[in-house]
This record gives sequence, structure tokens and C-alpha cells, in this order.
Amino acid sequence: MYPVVCIDDLERSALARLDQNALGYYSSGADGEQTLRDNIAAFQRYRLRPRCMVDISTIDLTQTVLGHQVNMPIGVAPTAMQRMAHPEGECATARAAEQMGTIFTLSTISTSSIEQVAAAAPRATKWFQLYVLKDRAMTVRMVQRAERAGFSAIVLTVDAQLFGRRLADARNGFQMPPHLSMANFTEELKNTVKGSGEQASGINNFVQTLFDPSLTWDDLSWLCGVTRLPVLVKGVMTPEDAATAVDRGASGVIVSNHGGRQLDGCLATVDALGPVVAAVGHRCPVFMDGGVRRGTDALKALALGACMVFVGRPLLWGLAHDGERGARLALQLLHSELRLAMGLCGVTKVADVTEKVIEKSERSHL
Ligand SMILES: Cc1cc2nc3c(=O)[nH]c(=O)nc-3n(C[C@H](O)[C@H](O)[C@H](O)COP(=O)(O)O)c2cc1C
Repeated sequence: MYPVVCIDDLERSALARLDQNALGYYSSGADGEQTLRDNIAAFQRYRLRPRCMVDISTIDLTQTVLGHQVNMPIGVAPTAMQRMAHPEGECATARAAEQMGTIFTLSTISTSSIEQVAAAAPRATKWFQLYVLKDRAMTVRMVQRAERAGFSAIVLTVDAQLFGRRLADARNGFQMPPHLSMANFTEELKNTVKGSGEQASGINNFVQTLFDPSLTWDDLSWLCGVTRLPVLVKGVMTPEDAATAVDRGASGVIVSNHGGRQLDGCLATVDALGPVVAAVGHRCPVFMDGGVRRGTDALKALALGACMVFVGRPLLWGLAHDGERGARLALQLLHSELRLAMGLCGVTKVADVTEKVIEKSERSHL
């Protein structure tokens, strides 16, 4: 086992354990991976302001999110096909989130089903990430299954009507391993995925057949009308889209560029966050994901107005490193790093993290 004291160590461990197919799928971004790199690098363009002589003997990381109290403002973003990292996949990650008292988001294209995850982590706050399918009746059934299984929000992903071109997947001819399945879909659809033998990424073929590229804001209004759960819109990068999402019924927005996997060359998410908060932060909670690898990154995002941040790859690295224990370790590391960073900035509560904690550095420190 590698000595692991930070997320980068978990990543190194995962790189040594995963096969080329899974590693390419998990780690790659779109095209030249400019945005993938910038999501991480952009955090270095912001600087924290240490404050002294504040009583920091108690530091409280709890946060209230859509009426649920969480123990830390760092949650688990939806990432597909987690059983490629570990046989227990999403069930292990959800249990890790449950133990840490934070939010777990399950992908539509998971390798553990909605019901399996609910049974594995009954007390976790669970959100269901939705890709709207061309077959709206099947889409509604999936939402209803999430409702019945105790999920407490629907996360509608709006940045992936076409899938970005991830070169590693194209080179590897990425396929989901044959012993795994898209657990939320019927046999018929599983066969569609497994049967895809073309050169390009298998997941691209799957998406292009089933997911609906004609989605518009009318579909958000429709979705809000067919579920009693709050709908969060994930993948918003501009104030205009954020405002429209809220106008059309979203209960929150998640600033995200899909971890640099969709439009290469778009802004880093931490740079997109401030304008979105300015546009809609007074109307709904604003969340973000992308490039968060340290507690200091999370603190910077909170200072820019995020209610909570989410991490994708760090949990995949944890899962590959040591299953449920590794996923929990990823969250524990981020928790203790955030606690330390808050304390050294003289802040003892998440609600007290404001823009006073941060400044933008003119110089690039890449
Ligand atoms: C391997 C992988 C699979 C993903 N699958 C999904 C998905 O099924 N649905 C979705 O909305 N986002 C998906 N995402 C995007 C994540 O939810 C999140 O936006 C991104 O990982 C955040 O960036 P980070 O990995 O730098 O933390 C995926 C990301 C990765 C890396």
C-alpha cells in the first residue's frame, strides 16, 4: 500500500492499480484537456487570507443543504461505472458518504442500481443524477424509482447532450467490461451497450442512441412537473443559463464542466462560479464541482459563494485504492484539510466563510 496523506497520493495509487481501459475512462478530459488541467490550476490563481488570534478551538463543518444537515460541505459527484474501480462500486462509495455524513450522487449510468445503493447506504443523503432519455416514459420511471428508494433530489445534467471526445477512450476503444452492466436499465438496453463493437468509445455509442440531444429548458419545466423532489441543474457555466434554470423551476444549480470532459477550452469552474453566484445566489443554492483536490480548494469555492462543493475523480481514486475504506479516506482527507484551512483563516463555521477569506492573485502560479 502506498502511504496516503493527500488526494494526489490516492491518485498515484489508483494509477498503479487500474487497467488502461478504466484509467483512460476515469482520468481523461475532452480533446486537448486544457479545461481538465485548468480546473485544477485555476484554484492556484486565488489566494487565502490567514487571520490570527481567533478562538478556533472548535471548528464546525456542518452545512444545511436543501433542508438536510450534512457534516461537511464536500460531497460526492456522480461518476459513471464505479465497479470498474472496485467490485462494490457505487455501493462502497455511498457507504463512505454515509459514514462521513455527506451527500452521495448516483449516476444514471451506474454499475449498481438505484435500489442496490439505497439498500447499501439507507441513511446516506442520496441524490440521483438524471440523463433524460429519448424515451420519456422510461425517464419518468427512473425518477420514480429514485423517489421510492429514498433519494432526496434529482440532479439533471444539462451539459452532455452530446458526449465530449475523450481521446484516451477513442484510442483504447473503451468498452465497459463484459461482467458489468448499466444497472439502472433493462436487459434490452444492457444488450445495446454490450453489443457495441465499434472503434470509438462504447459509451458514446450508447449515449447517442438513448440520450436525448433535443433537450431544451421546456424539458426542465416538464421534469419539475413530474417529480415531487427538488431538481438541481448540473453543468451550468454562465449566469444566463443559471438564471434561466431557476426561472424554469430549478431548486439549485451546480456549476460544472463535467470535470473537463465536455467542451474543452471552456472556463475552469472556480472561475465560472462567482458570476453565477452573483446572478442567482440570492434565489437558490449554488454548488460547484471540478478540480477540487484539497481542503483549501473547497474553502476558496465556499468563499466565492458555493453552498457546497462536489468531487468526482478523488472518490474514484479512493475506491480503486481500497474500496469503501479508500473512498472514506478521500472524504476524511478533504474534511481534515478543510477544517485546518478554515481555522488558519480564522473561520469557525461554514456560514462565516465569505469573500473576505480570499483574494484573486494577478500572477499565474502554474
Ligand atoms: C469517470 C467520470 C464519469 C462521470 N460520469 C458522470 C455521469 O454519469 N453523470 C454526470 O452528470 N457527471 C459525470 N461526471 C462528471 C462529474 O459528476 C463531475 O462533474 C466531475 O467529475 C468533477 O470534476 P473532478 O473529477 O475534477 O472532481 C463524470 C466524471 C468522471 C471523471
